[in-house]
Amino acid sequence: MYFCKDKQFQRNMKIIIINGPNLNLLGTREPSVYGNESMDDYLARLRKRFPNIEIEYYQSNIEGELINKMQQAGFSYDGIVLNAGAYTHTSIALLDCIRSISTPVVEVHISNVNGREEFRHHSVIAPGCKGTIQGFGLDSYRLAIESFMG
Ligand code: DQA
Repeated sequence: MYFCKDKQFQRNMKIIIINGPNLNLLGTREPSVYGNESMDDYLARLRKRFPNIEIEYYQSNIEGELINKMQQAGFSYDGIVLNAGAYTHTSIALLDCIRSISTPVVEVHISNVNGREEFRHHSVIAPGCKGTIQGFGLDSYRLAIESFMG
């Protein structure tokens, strides 16, 4: 249960996981890098693990749709867990969006991007995020959710 500041009422914490391009293919996409589990199966496990947190999920391959969703969620949700996929390394528009909303954003990567090609080492969105979790496989999402629970 999540206690609001004035403790007048209680409500469940509300978090949205937003996945960017090609992450709809989790489970089949480069399994040696991203594993064999689909996001749907992983989400079911996450929701079981955190029954008191409302975990919404959104995925798009389109930059503007990711921004629309972040703007929709970004003034009422308690946290956004964002895996922007390759837009991580290119999108000033996503950085501007993260800076325009009030909900804190945690950047997530399934793989350890710093151990991969050099073009993945730089995150354009990191300066706007609360923090970054990377390299723990799908468990990176769980760790990001836990970062909002403290
Ligand atoms: C990724 C890493 C990015 O470099 C890549 O473009 C992705 C996935 C990850 O979760 O490891 O699509 O964000």
